[in-house]
Amino acid sequence: MKAIVYERYGSPDVLELKEVSKPTPKDNEVLIKIHATTVTSGDWRARTLEMPAGFGFMARLVFGISKPRQPILGTELAGEIEAVGKDVKKFKVGDQVFAFSGASMGCHAEYRCMPEDGEVVPKPANLTYDEAAALSFGGTAACSFFRRAGLQSGEKVLVNGASGGVGTAAVQLAKHFGADVTGVCSTANVELVKSLGANRVVDYTKEDFTKNGETYDVIVDTAGTAPFSRSKGSLKERGRLLLVLGGLPDLLRVPWVSMTSRRKVIAGPAAVSVEDLNFLAKLADAGEFKPVIDRRYPLEQIAAAHRYVDTGRKKGNVIITLVHGD
Ligand SMILES: NC(=O)c1ccc[n+]([C@@H]2O[C@H](COP(=O)([O-])OP(=O)(O)OC[C@H]3O[C@@H](n4cnc5c(N)ncnc54)[C@H](OP(=O)(O)O)[C@@H]3O)[C@@H](O)[C@H]2O)c1
Repeated sequence: MKAIVYERYGSPDVLELKEVSKPTPKDNEVLIKIHATTVTSGDWRARTLEMPAGFGFMARLVFGISKPRQPILGTELAGEIEAVGKDVKKFKVGDQVFAFSGASMGCHAEYRCMPEDGEVVPKPANLTYDEAAALSFGGTAACSFFRRAGLQSGEKVLVNGASGGVGTAAVQLAKHFGADVTGVCSTANVELVKSLGANRVVDYTKEDFTKNGETYDVIVDTAGTAPFSRSKGSLKERGRLLLVLGGLPDLLRVPWVSMTSRRKVIAGPAAVSVEDLNFLAKLADAGEFKPVIDRRYPLEQIAAAHRYVDTGRKKGNVIITLVHGD
């Protein structure tokens, strides 16, 4: 099968289209023929090892000390089940699914095996493969952080970096949970963020949300520009700051913030579950959550997709489409 392989860390030039062996499902696995996948900020980090402050060494332990342990990137996919292992009960050949492989990656290929009890669930019928491929990365991160924050209906939420992969999901999910949502983005993305349901949008090139006197129950920072030191004055007394993007120093400050104030900082990796994937599928099916698609590239042009994602300015999601010859 065709796959995009990287054997060293670096720029998009390290990516190569190669023929590799097609995987065979184990007894408890399904083999998925991939129709669409994405290039996310997670792929950019795993390809370059550019990590938030203090996480460089840990990243090498996870991804490979001197070279990538998993040579195929890609954290999410949508496709069709082509074969099932003998013990598989939940899926059958021909089922349309989407899946999240997270840090184990491997979705930038024509096929991938997943355990039937892993993060693989039926694709909502009203979504295209392109849309379904983009349900997981931002959606699961937003779900995980909102759950940890105990987000309540009626609370005021600010999403910093509202136009990115995680931000576009966070705005829509916060609205679904009944929050009053303010999005922060650059001028070009104001209309997009409004269209996702934000009650207000702050254009960060014209206004500093930390200086306009507004306060929030929950602030989500996906851009890394709203650490506690900057946003504490914009948090209500029992406000929670969700550092989707935060460095080790931010993480180490968490206990100190809890000891010295009633505000809370929540940071670290998002926890992903099959329940969250089913929840996102249900919302998408009901038309309450729709992944934002910015650009599409064929698998053969994935390096161009990476170059665009590397800018850190994508709007929602960048899709890779696969056309199978058979
Ligand atoms: N903790 C976790 O488990 C977890 C999970 C997923 C992602 N992440 C991290 O979260 C970060 C965001 O991921 P993503 O996929 O959403 O990235 P992305 O799609 O590249 O989006 C980044 C967004 O940041 C915005 N931005 C840039 N400068 C800004 C500023 N000064 N103020 C406000 N917004 C600004 C950009 O919008 P404009 O173009 O409008 O500026 C862009 O939409 C990444 O660093 C990723 O590694 C962490």
